[in-house]
Amino acid sequence: MTRSVPMPSYPFGGGCPDPHSLPAAELAAAAQRILPRLQDDLARYPDRLGWLPLREVAAQRFRDREGVSLPVESIVLTSGSQQGITLACQALLGPGKPVIVEEFTYPGTLRAMRHVGARIVGVPTDEGGMRIDRLAAILAEMSDRGELPGFIYTTPTYQNPTGATLSVARRRELLALARQYGVPVVDDNCYADLDYAGPPPPSLKALDPEGDVILFESFSKIVGPGLRSGYFAAPEPLRERLLAHKIDAGTSILTAAILAEYLRDHLWEHVGRLREIGRRKRDAMLAAFERSLGDRCAWQVPDGGYFLWVRLPDACDVARVHAAARARGIVYGDGRAFHYAEAEVPYFRFSFAYPTEAQIAEGVAVMAECIEQAMAAPV
Ligand SMILES: Cc1ncc(COP(=O)(O)O)c(C=O)c1O
Repeated sequence: MTRSVPMPSYPFGGGCPDPHSLPAAELAAAAQRILPRLQDDLARYPDRLGWLPLREVAAQRFRDREGVSLPVESIVLTSGSQQGITLACQALLGPGKPVIVEEFTYPGTLRAMRHVGARIVGVPTDEGGMRIDRLAAILAEMSDRGELPGFIYTTPTYQNPTGATLSVARRRELLALARQYGVPVVDDNCYADLDYAGPPPPSLKALDPEGDVILFESFSKIVGPGLRSGYFAAPEPLRERLLAHKIDAGTSILTAAILAEYLRDHLWEHVGRLREIGRRKRDAMLAAFERSLGDRCAWQVPDGGYFLWVRLPDACDVARVHAAARARGIVYGDGRAFHYAEAEVPYFRFSFAYPTEAQIAEGVAVMAECIEQAMAAPV
């Protein structure tokens, strides 16, 4: 077997599922069943909204999880949710246009925002996610200056990187503020199925199905990012505004058809397996941190998702930690990459679903040694 990228010793970098959870045999069987029926479809370009059976799976996924219907016509398949985020930035932002995010957020979103020249405004967060009092103050100030943001972007459930989840009360307050100022909300909801402590609060889209909420979901976190399959759901005219920038001639029918064929009947059984694995790996990583860094670092236990966001001790040199950890083969997220203004911050993110439990135990112990070195006076 060939690998396109060499494996790091300790792969705690991306938000990726356990590779052994990938239902390879089931996807192969689904491909064998569906391919002979796709001859005509594969000889033509895809529908502009994407392969209908996968949009139906997306609608079913939302209905089963949220108890609310998502019109299948509002759903558009994309090449990962990253493409949808890029479309939202192209459609609703531009040079100098403000956009609101959590102070720490997914770097892919920040890249897409910077790419269109937007002015990124970070809202402080706490263990409960975005501080709504601070959001209210920022919006009031922006409104006074006559420059409201293109949208408010948030990952309210099992946030990347902090793992925080916004309460229902805060969700309602955020939606009320968005409505008051007429600002669309982007609900980047790609981790919501990965719950390890019971179901999360309803998504923003479920709390405000008629409002200007653009929902992003993905198959990256529940099947694999290599498929590049995600989708967004938006009411009109937002859906058309985003679609106007989707000039890629369509999203792969082959991938969508295989996924739909498999997930139609096996979605929740598969997600159930991922939850078990994710909970086990999260607990293994928490135990390793407790063992090696319990007296040095601080973190919040994530109720779901793939990330542990760790606060370094004040007394350590952040740049030295990162240099030492990289030299020892640890691949992970430096806090700076998640900060809306790329400030150096005393945090790092370890992703726990992809590595083995042995890599977790060993890699966290190695990280502890790197932190220990960076605490000592430089020689
Ligand atoms: C919050 C968030 N949104 C979007 C993405 C991109 O996902 P996709 O692979 O669906 O493009 C990620 C990936 O890590 C993410 O964490």
